[in-house]
Amino acid sequence: MKVIEVDAKNRELIKKIFDNELESFGVMGGADMWMIMSFIRYGKLYVLLNESNDLLSVAQYQGVLGKKEVFLYGFSTSLKERGKGYGKILLEESHNRLKELGMEKIYLTVDPANAKAIDMYKKAGYIIEELQKDEYGKGIDRYLMIKNLL
Ligand SMILES: CC(C)(COP(=O)(O)OP(=O)(O)OC[C@H]1O[C@@H](n2cnc3c(N)ncnc32)[C@H](O)[C@@H]1OP(=O)(O)O)[C@@H](O)C(=O)NCCC(=O)NCCS
Repeated sequence: MKVIEVDAKNRELIKKIFDNELESFGVMGGADMWMIMSFIRYGKLYVLLNESNDLLSVAQYQGVLGKKEVFLYGFSTSLKERGKGYGKILLEESHNRLKELGMEKIYLTVDPANAKAIDMYKKAGYIIEELQKDEYGKGIDRYLMIKNLL
């Protein structure tokens, strides 16, 4: 297994990331190709691959302007690979790499009903900062979670 930062030229892998977005998030909340290329070129997009280069997990980070902080826009594990510890591995390794780059804080938002993801983020050191009511539209609430890397 290996964690790599995705390169804009790696179109085969980018196609797999795009397909995984649809499978993991459906039409709402996932990243389209415009966003994926933006994470790659102007943020950080890390993936966990197995020895056959199959996609296991994906982490998409945006930078926060003027600050040593990032927003974890999207995080997912391929449907058939869930519950095997891959999300935990990618989350931890991507945190290490962001810390090496001098980042100090990570933000994310998560559906309050997504117990699996909230549990994973808490174990990785995130705390729930606030409930953002109607953040992405009427009835679409989110928890804002924060992790300090210092
Ligand atoms: C949430 C998600 C990323 C977890 O990835 P994963 O690779 O399956 O997670 P892991 O196997 O590494 O497990 C990490 C932790 O997540 C939690 N978790 C994972 N599967 C779980 C399950 N079926 N039930 C309860 N908790 C679970 C546990 O806290 C687990 O830690 P543990 O192994 O010490 O118990 C994955 O379920 C997913 O892609 N879901 C759809 C997309 C999504 O909701 N992303 C988050 C958006 S904010």
